[in-house]
Amino acid sequence: MKKFSIVIAGGGSTYTPGIVMMLLDNLDRFPIKTLKLYDNDEERQAALGKALDIVLKEKAPDIEFSYTTDPEEAFTNVDFCFAHIRTGKYKMRELDEKIPLKHGVVGQETCGPGGIAYGLRSIGDIIELIDIMEKYSPDCWMLNYSNPAAIVAEACRILRPNSRVLNICDMPVGTLRRMSQIIGKTPEDLDVRYFGLNHFGWWTSVKDKEGHEYLPEIRDYVSKHGYLTQIEVDTQHMDQSWQETHKKAKDLLAVEPRFLPNTYLKYYLYPDYVVKVEGSDPDYTRANEVMDGREKEVFSAAKTIVEKGTSEGSEFSIGSHATFIVDLARAIAFNTHERMVMIVENNGAIANFDDNAVVEVPCIVSSDGPEPLSQGNIPEFERALMYQQVTVEKLAVQAYIEGSYQKLWQALILSKTIPSAKVAKEILDDLIEANKEYWPELT
Ligand code: NAD
Ligand code: LMR
Repeated sequence: MKKFSIVIAGGGSTYTPGIVMMLLDNLDRFPIKTLKLYDNDEERQAALGKALDIVLKEKAPDIEFSYTTDPEEAFTNVDFCFAHIRTGKYKMRELDEKIPLKHGVVGQETCGPGGIAYGLRSIGDIIELIDIMEKYSPDCWMLNYSNPAAIVAEACRILRPNSRVLNICDMPVGTLRRMSQIIGKTPEDLDVRYFGLNHFGWWTSVKDKEGHEYLPEIRDYVSKHGYLTQIEVDTQHMDQSWQETHKKAKDLLAVEPRFLPNTYLKYYLYPDYVVKVEGSDPDYTRANEVMDGREKEVFSAAKTIVEKGTSEGSEFSIGSHATFIVDLARAIAFNTHERMVMIVENNGAIANFDDNAVVEVPCIVSSDGPEPLSQGNIPEFERALMYQQVTVEKLAVQAYIEGSYQKLWQALILSKTIPSAKVAKEILDDLIEANKEYWPELT
């Protein structure tokens, strides 16, 4: 089997060790010749790079491993770039969450004003990464799961329409894993129909390979327990705040009892609950939970491995939630025609929705990329919600490109998470101040 060369952009990410361990666990399906880590933060990159160097020498000495902050070195002679960068790091995520909360509005990484703020930071860096990739490895594919995926994908659609960039999110896969647990199956047994935007969608069918429909059974479970399951099925979304989110799916189902909801809809359908009841502590948000949890764990495991000179006894855990990345890379590399939920331009996949909207739907992925599967017409309620939200995303990207204050204000006004134009303006002015280093000047 051909062996592939990969660069992980955002090599200093808390997810990098889990993804590297997952790749090592999948070498029989996806053989690796070269693995490089690339980050623009030397300290973070070295901390994880040194530890992973030890891990690779112990577990897969045949793989040529390196880590760097030099774009040319990173992107020369690679087949795939797995991109998970966070422009502004947790310091800025914290502000994305805390600034809206100060105004009584949802403070979240990808939804509402926080997501818009993060989007305006991410666009420039992602476009730069694409350009670097195309300069040094013109045939390389970027599998991009940097957030906020909806805004990033819309920016790629407008600014780099012909680039080999595939945008994907792990939430549909993660929730399918929970669904499969509910009905005693594995995700590989199941095919779904799904429509929506990223972090804003609904499952309309969950069938096994024989064609048996499990939607009613799963709906029945979710109407009582949400997506909370007894067994640990998704190692990524296990913290307390995520348990609240899985549980809340019960109330999302009540709004549209026919379909199974994406958990992120809670920020749009129950923003008052999220802010007041669920316990959005304006001084301690998800960013703090991640910094005190995942980030500390990953970097202290790395430190221990480097100090001991071995990974024995202090191994990184395998990010098994991320095997979708291998499935996607295999689909491109081996033309597998894998069916995956991807973020793509609509072009008729949702029949009664704009052709040029970025949507999330099942696709067949081959070596030419994703081919969206038709999901037919969607109901009026979901269509209206989606139209409002996709316009937020489009206006945010236009605001970035044109440097338009007015358009960004309109984007915020349209977000279902924000109660009025006045509050939108107050939040916007605070976000501009906080993002001076990252955003284009808005006039
Ligand atoms: P993190 O802050 O730990 O890691 C991000 C890394 O990116 C940092 O080391 C940072 O220095 C680096 N970086 C920032 N800008 C860069 C640039 N221009 N070039 C190279 N490196 C750069 O964040 P994390 O929590 O590990 O998350 C990483 C990313 O993955 C985020 O965008 C997050 O939202 C995303 N994510 C996506 C999914 C999904 O399925 N779509 C799931 C989980 C996380
Ligand atoms: C988090 O765990 O909060 C994020 O980094 C990723 C996610 O899926 O929300």
